[in-house]
Amino acid sequence: MRVSSILFVFIVETSVKAAKTATRASSFAGSTTAAIFPPVGAGTTANSLFPDPTVVGYAGPTITGDEAAVLQTAPAAPFVDSIVPLVEPQPLEAAPTSSFDILTHLGSLSPFRSLPPATFGVINASSVVPDDCTLTQVHLLHRHGARYPTIGANEVAAAVHAAATSEEGFEATGPLKFLNTWTYKLGAEILTPFGRSQMFNLGMGFRVKYGELLKEATELPVFRTLSEERMVDSSLHFAAGFFGVQSYSTSYHQLIEIEDDSGSPDSFIGNSTLSPFNCPILDSDVGSFGGQQAEIWGLKYLNATQKRLQKFIKGNLTLDASTIFAMQSLCAYETVALGYSSFCGLFTEEEWRGYNYFFDLDFWYSYGPGSPYSAALGIGWVQELVSRLTETRLGPANFTTSLNASIVTNPTLFPFAQPIYVDATHDTVVAAVVTALNFTSLAGNGPLPTDHIPKNQTYFAQQISPFGANLVGQVLSCPSRSPASSSSSASASTHIRWLLNDAVVPLTGLSGCASNEADDGLCPLMNFVAGLEQRIAEVDFGFACFGNYGVPTPDNIIDGRYPQ
Ligand SMILES: *[C@@H]1O[C@H](CO)[C@@H](O)[C@H](O)[C@H]1NC(C)=O
Ligand SMILES: *[C@@H]1O[C@H](CO)[C@@H](O)[C@H](O)[C@H]1NC(C)=O
Ligand SMILES: *[C@@H]1O[C@H](CO)[C@@H](O)[C@H](O)[C@H]1NC(C)=O
Ligand SMILES: *[C@@H]1O[C@H](CO)[C@@H](O)[C@H](O)[C@H]1NC(C)=O
Ligand SMILES: *[C@@H]1O[C@H](CO)[C@@H](O)[C@H](O)[C@H]1NC(C)=O
Ligand SMILES: *[C@@H]1O[C@H](CO)[C@@H](O)[C@H](O)[C@H]1NC(C)=O
Ligand SMILES: *[C@@H]1O[C@H](CO)[C@@H](O)[C@H](O)[C@H]1NC(C)=O
Ligand SMILES: *[C@@H]1O[C@H](CO)[C@@H](O)[C@H](O)[C@H]1NC(C)=O
Repeated sequence: MRVSSILFVFIVETSVKAAKTATRASSFAGSTTAAIFPPVGAGTTANSLFPDPTVVGYAGPTITGDEAAVLQTAPAAPFVDSIVPLVEPQPLEAAPTSSFDILTHLGSLSPFRSLPPATFGVINASSVVPDDCTLTQVHLLHRHGARYPTIGANEVAAAVHAAATSEEGFEATGPLKFLNTWTYKLGAEILTPFGRSQMFNLGMGFRVKYGELLKEATELPVFRTLSEERMVDSSLHFAAGFFGVQSYSTSYHQLIEIEDDSGSPDSFIGNSTLSPFNCPILDSDVGSFGGQQAEIWGLKYLNATQKRLQKFIKGNLTLDASTIFAMQSLCAYETVALGYSSFCGLFTEEEWRGYNYFFDLDFWYSYGPGSPYSAALGIGWVQELVSRLTETRLGPANFTTSLNASIVTNPTLFPFAQPIYVDATHDTVVAAVVTALNFTSLAGNGPLPTDHIPKNQTYFAQQISPFGANLVGQVLSCPSRSPASSSSSASASTHIRWLLNDAVVPLTGLSGCASNEADDGLCPLMNFVAGLEQRIAEVDFGFACFGNYGVPTPDNIIDGRYPQ
């Protein structure tokens, strides 16, 4: 795990080294209670008294329907707003009229919900395919579903619990009273049941939106994921939602790329653009900078909270900023794991805004526009995108990033002309790819201060990388628009548009799309590709990741590169 903050260890993704030492059987690590299912000695599922459906027969009529294409047939786009069966928590002292929503103030621990389409400023924003266009291809990069805390985070919460329960004279009163009987039930690293449903729903939703493209497939599609348990689990649930549980295993190929974020060139074993952590600078002071910025803010916004809550503790548990931050995080984790958390109601709206902003700072300075290496982390996936869009094989000249030559040079592992591409990754990587794509409108109002929440903030981790985050590139054929298709085929791709969590992303930061007059987020495909090629050329992975540079002045960095 990239523990960028020592004090506040609850957030950042991919505890790969720790995860490797945790076995599947101990997936309840850290919890103070154990619940192993199926129970030991329960037998196996192989039992002739329970034959499978092919043996039983009598399936009834099985008539398949045509593929759906809801973005082409409906006047408005579907909007995901459900967090069923989670119970919406209320903040402390919520005014009866308040519409404040804690679950959109949990930074990257928020569960995905569609953003209003114009969130990022595109006037006529919608994911609906314009009347004069048809879909030709779609590219999806998504985060895994809701998970338990990572190993390190889990230990802190367990410590909160141990402190509270081992203490002879411990007694909590007032709003903290529930702590007297609270038990810690969370596992670590893997998906929660709700997280599984998020991935199933993402896959199912993708089929309803883009299923028609499958008619163009000539081979089984290859979808990619990473080796970590929650990544594989996420991708299988996506596939189950997309293809159905009866047929997903025979409907596509799942490529599982090895995930290794050790960051050390000597021990590094797995280049992957979905886990682009072959970048030693992450282990230096430069890599800790984002976490430190967040920490400055953390100490500030929790200062008063500490005094407010300490009053309710008898015994020697001292609530410091770290413990209180852990309690806010327990609200997030318990909610997505257990459906509800008593910790949520301990904090006011303002404290939840403070919590959310902590993530914004960490992401901005670690994986977003304010980081000197974030564009480098994301650029490998962007190279793959260009390779896919242009159907041009990457070669040795390109292997200076996180690309894995053995994958991208192999047409079986990395095929072209798929109508649907699906890649699964982590929150930090979604953020880095967004930076590498130069979606600069997200950085519109500049660097984030560490002493207050700015009024006109444009960069929110919750909007970029919630649990189940999805970044979608819609490739379109719009023959009546300029520039017209160079090919005679009416179905040739001419334009592209990007949706981040269902909101249209302006492409104005990318040279070639800047003068795009369309108000619907479309950019001519050839301009987009040329812009990305320029971007690839201007992002120096070798310098960003292996260079010898110190902690930069933060406010000079606005597009994920060290100031030129
Ligand atoms: C939005 O789209 C509609 C229909 O395509 C069009 O009539 C309208 O002019 C557009 N609005 C703006 C502000 O461009
Ligand atoms: C490339 O990816 C494959 C599959 O994940 C992995 O086995 C191999 O170690 C990777 N190669 C490098 C150099 O990272
Ligand atoms: C916390 O509040 C006290 C006053 O109550 C103040 O002196 C101190 O500087 C504050 N600390 C931070 C980090 O804001
Ligand atoms: C408070 O907790 C610490 C650490 O658990 C322990 O060593 C100490 O004896 C406790 N103090 C009291 C007064 O209970
Ligand atoms: C691959 O390398 C070639 C040669 O340097 C360059 O022209 C091309 O833009 C690169 N492509 C990508 C997608 O990185
Ligand atoms: C892995 O990445 C490093 C750093 O960019 C590169 O030197 C190496 O060639 C890559 N290995 C493969 C197999 O792509
Ligand atoms: C807010 O945005 C405006 C213009 O978009 C900018 O001038 C200003 O510096 C920003 N920051 C604050 C704190 O107002
Ligand atoms: C990316 O954005 C930065 C900052 O606005 C800009 O300097 C750079 O030219 C952009 N790159 C491309 C390829 O458009």
